[in-house]
Amino acid sequence: MKIKIVLFINLIVNSFCYTQNIIKTVPLFRHWNCIGFKNNIDDNKPYQFKVGDIPLVAWKSSNNTYLTTLNICKHFGSTLHEGKIEDGCLKCPYHGYKHSINDKCGVIIEKDNKLWWSYNPIDKTPQTIPYIGDDFVSDYIEIEMNEELPSCMYNSMDINHAEYIHSGILGFGSDIPIKNYEYFKKNNVISTSFVHYSKNNIKLINKQNLVNVDTYTSNYHEYIYPSTSCSVVCHGKDKKIVIGVSMTPVDTFKTKWFVTVSSNYMKDVISKNILTLATKMILNQDKEQFDRQSKNTILRNNYILKKELNYEDHIKYMRSLFETYDYPKLQEFIDYHIANPE
Ligand code: FES
Ligand SMILES: [Fe+2]
Repeated sequence: MKIKIVLFINLIVNSFCYTQNIIKTVPLFRHWNCIGFKNNIDDNKPYQFKVGDIPLVAWKSSNNTYLTTLNICKHFGSTLHEGKIEDGCLKCPYHGYKHSINDKCGVIIEKDNKLWWSYNPIDKTPQTIPYIGDDFVSDYIEIEMNEELPSCMYNSMDINHAEYIHSGILGFGSDIPIKNYEYFKKNNVISTSFVHYSKNNIKLINKQNLVNVDTYTSNYHEYIYPSTSCSVVCHGKDKKIVIGVSMTPVDTFKTKWFVTVSSNYMKDVISKNILTLATKMILNQDKEQFDRQSKNTILRNNYILKKELNYEDHIKYMRSLFETYDYPKLQEFIDYHIANPE
């Protein structure tokens, strides 16, 4: 009986490791990559986008679905994003070759007000920002950060920078240490929870009559490899703000952040706008730090993450997930595309 239990536990542990290893070794272009918020995309025109170094263009076809191809015409090499959509096809601006489903490269699906692209996807559907219920109201922000994907993700799960980067009257960061730090990991999900001191400015935004009284918020951050993170801030028992981010690298040191700001209590127009504005200010504070990050690859390869501060145990596990991560390079994608036609 004991042996059976041990074998069963081994089987579960091995299957977790197996899942983790499979997920880790699959190139980013086989995961779902967010390419834009649906509301910001004009369906009457081709939509140009990138996933890493892969230049792509999408257009709305006749059966209400999106088609996508590499942003080059295989005739005389024109780019296609200035072409016209005709009869569900994308017509090249140079000599009018009509790109149809026969020219497609990858798939696009729509989910959570976002468009997602993948080539030969390993998952049926994209990762969803968790913890947003039907009683939440959401707003959307798109921002480009001058950093690579792993460092962007470490930042989104980092607790320590709030005190410095998000300090002052416009930030939530405080020099009062966090409490009850814990972290968890399971397959490709890493999370941390802690209790954070709530500054007066945050209390005011949250319309709490507790200014000058010490209060705390319960915080939970979750990272889902490779491209999703979310922060849940809980005021009191059930007042929640969820900031979810889907990230897509678009250059060696450029990552697009598609941010969903949701709350189950800041729902009227004014509160919603205040929350969006506050989130934009916080994102811009992070953007400033990304601009200041060393972009010297030799220094980075040798020295980054060689020192550790408190509350960073979960970052260690994130690093192990990113061990085999590669920024999507065009030639590697083309080689895969040729070897694995759709
Ligand atoms: S370059 Fe596109 S049709 Fe000639
Ligand atoms: Fe930050």
